[in-house]
Amino acid sequence: MDSAYLIHRYSDLCAEADRNADLGWRSFREDGQKRRFPLTAEIIDRFADYIFGGIGFEVRNDFFGLMPSTEGAILRRPELSDEQRSQHLQTLSDLFRSMWSAFNAAGVAPKTWLPLITADNVVGGLLLTLTIDGQPLLVSSHTIRVAPRALMMRAALKGVPSSVLEIGGGHGRFVRDVLKLAPGTRITYCDLPFNLLLAARYLTRVFPGDVHLAWDNTPIPDTARITIVPPWRLADIPYSIDACCNFLSFQHMQADNLAFYGTALHQLGVRSIYHVNRLTPYHDGEVALDDYPFRDVYETESRRFVASASKSHWIDGQEHKSGSVDQIAEVLRLKQ
Ligand SMILES: C[S@@+](CC[C@H](N)C(=O)[O-])C[C@H]1O[C@@H](n2cnc3c(N)ncnc32)[C@H](O)[C@@H]1O
Repeated sequence: MDSAYLIHRYSDLCAEADRNADLGWRSFREDGQKRRFPLTAEIIDRFADYIFGGIGFEVRNDFFGLMPSTEGAILRRPELSDEQRSQHLQTLSDLFRSMWSAFNAAGVAPKTWLPLITADNVVGGLLLTLTIDGQPLLVSSHTIRVAPRALMMRAALKGVPSSVLEIGGGHGRFVRDVLKLAPGTRITYCDLPFNLLLAARYLTRVFPGDVHLAWDNTPIPDTARITIVPPWRLADIPYSIDACCNFLSFQHMQADNLAFYGTALHQLGVRSIYHVNRLTPYHDGEVALDDYPFRDVYETESRRFVASASKSHWIDGQEHKSGSVDQIAEVLRLKQ
């Protein structure tokens, strides 16, 4: 699938999104902002070289203080000076070493987790080479940061379920990691339309021939390894889903979005939800973790503190911290 073809399909997807806009899934602020980006095949080809908000990359770690434009213009990720580059390499090496100790302590073998942190080099991005036992390993800040999630999910759910749905996955990296960890898993990926476009770009390059775009109104097949589905088509999925995953995404949703997804998951018979999100909201439009509306049908099985994330905003490339918030990993089970 070339990028011009994906952009063409995306424009039809946006028209479908507008026809289904009132069902509850839509985040008007975020969806509207992302849809204003003027896209070209070159930008989609190398989207990780550009600065987009809400696709899984972070201002501090991936864009070095540059904020995504809200005006519709797309900025390129800044080139690093030699000094910034070597500092960044040092940061990634330190991160790598602490992961090595943590995985070692948890009894997870390097042959299991090294493929998870490896960059694919198919959509650009700031990729650096670490040398491990004399072998080069291509990584990015993002690949190292998110790799533990697939293993955390496996531990929390006591195995990788055979059919996993991710909601709000940025551009599909967790999907990719789950499939590296458990190649036989069936994955369904759901996000806002712009993210579906980027995930389609990324995942069709990493897993060519394995991706079905369920973007029009034709029946969804039950044969694809990865199905990329817009929110309003969740109800059309013809196969069973064991678990839903969500990382740093429910925390951004409005109450009606959360209620929409809760109903969809319940109707699909999804038994487990594994998610990592902020305990408390940043602003009125968001919902505290304890108040997610689907708690009427899903109950907490376990909770674990993951990190204390700093609450910050950026002005002219400078980070201004204003406190911190707890991130919680939680397993929810469908009530009997
Ligand atoms: C901060 S990003 C996190 C991305 C990824 N999970 C990660 O942690 O790297 C938030 C994600 O939630 C998605 N999202 C926000 N509102 C949504 C909604 N109403 N429906 C579906 N996805 C939504 C965004 O499009 C984005 O992919």
